[in-house]
Amino acid sequence: MWFFCAFTRIRPPQAAAPVYHGRMREPTKHQPYPIAAIKALSEREAALYTQQHPRSAALAARSTHWFTGAPLHWMQDWPLPFPLAIAKAQGARLTDVDGRPYADFCLGDTAAMFGHSPAALTEALSLQVAQGLSAMLPAAATAEVGELLARQFGLAQWQIATTASDANRFLLRWARAATGREIVLVFDGCYHGAVDDTQVELANGHPQAIPGQVGRVTDVTRTTRVVAFNDVEALRAALAPGDVAAVLCEPALTNCGMVLPDPDFHAALRELTHQVGTLLLIDETHTLSAGPQGYTGAFGLKPDAMVIGKAIAGGVPCAVYGVTEALAGRMYQAWQAAGPGRTGIGTTLSGSLLQIAALHATLTALITEAHYARMFDRTAHYAGRVREVLDRHALDWTLSVLGARSELQYIDRAPRTAQEAASGFDAGLEALIQLYLLNRGVVLTPFHNMALMSPATSLDDVEALVDGLDACLTELSEAPR
Ligand SMILES: Cc1ncc(COP(=O)(O)O)c(C=O)c1O
Repeated sequence: MWFFCAFTRIRPPQAAAPVYHGRMREPTKHQPYPIAAIKALSEREAALYTQQHPRSAALAARSTHWFTGAPLHWMQDWPLPFPLAIAKAQGARLTDVDGRPYADFCLGDTAAMFGHSPAALTEALSLQVAQGLSAMLPAAATAEVGELLARQFGLAQWQIATTASDANRFLLRWARAATGREIVLVFDGCYHGAVDDTQVELANGHPQAIPGQVGRVTDVTRTTRVVAFNDVEALRAALAPGDVAAVLCEPALTNCGMVLPDPDFHAALRELTHQVGTLLLIDETHTLSAGPQGYTGAFGLKPDAMVIGKAIAGGVPCAVYGVTEALAGRMYQAWQAAGPGRTGIGTTLSGSLLQIAALHATLTALITEAHYARMFDRTAHYAGRVREVLDRHALDWTLSVLGARSELQYIDRAPRTAQEAASGFDAGLEALIQLYLLNRGVVLTPFHNMALMSPATSLDDVEALVDGLDACLTELSEAPR
């Protein structure tokens, strides 16, 4: 997630206070709550969290052999005094080690979009676990999974990677090889994983490497161009020299709040890339929320290639990338031209027996019209109820929706660029809302207000989220000014 990079704080493994990723803001026309009120309520909620989670606290205290106190330092970035340790994740529910249940709207940051350990996946994985996990050879179902991917997403040729970061990195290499061009283009506010080529942003209209990165040795602005999302003229100018191998983009930005495309943006993007021989690579890792064929299928996009990570294997580490027949032909040619040696693409566990079992279960039993109908229904219910709450509190905030995924933004209209989305960020309020909800049994996606609905999400879960938000805003509005 972009926010990890943008606002990661440095702190010792055990800290007592809530953590803010980025700026706290003085009240504005759109966000009327004073910093003092947000801080006071956050401190009270942090104390409540500490009191309610003695086992999580003890485990955090014991985690001294994890660098940063957690196996992945991002886990320390939740706005909590110490990480919540999970005993069980099932359907749309989490249970922590203190026995407290939660309605989960983070869903592993999309990996569990179809619910945690749904029955079809559990069954398939249990069978496979007893029959081998990884052989660096195809499984009996591998051919069928290739057919299923091609049918589902409309691209002819597929490969497997183990993370979406890897899949994006590999696809960029193939794109450079196939076109013989060095430059790639991304949109400001993008996040495509731990991929150096994409860690670029606009600062006052100029490209710069995303701040805060450690150990980077190349100047990515030399080979990556970055333009604002929805800015067709900037895109035209950046592509005009005819030296861009590929545009890598999410069809809607989902890692800087949410930024939806203008109605004609994707048509222009496809037309402009075609004109200059630039490949169009669509990263559907988060936007699979838009429908069973992703945003691409739902809105009739025609990319040269597509990446899908996370939910595509229900949370088993796996990502897939697919390309058109034409691009596959160019990839073969480039490979031949490279001569004997190593492609530099691929990892040992990719295409494993376990991944194939997980992909098969997801494609046959989880990515179904019926599941999406249920997920969309829950989102519609949530959207309606959030509007009621916002009206009650006289707030003009925006709820951006992409199928099963929605994002509450503290601005009065849907942002068209990452900069517009950032104008509404308020790290203090965001952290407070998450901590407040968590103390009341609701987990929202950290670092932004994203709520994702799974087929297992119940209306009661949605009500708990809306009631928690309402209560938090009520307390804030009643705080002394
Ligand atoms: C759009 C998009 N692509 C790729 C990734 C990277 O996924 P992973 O961390 O599983 O490699 C992410 C992660 O949030 C993402 O949002």
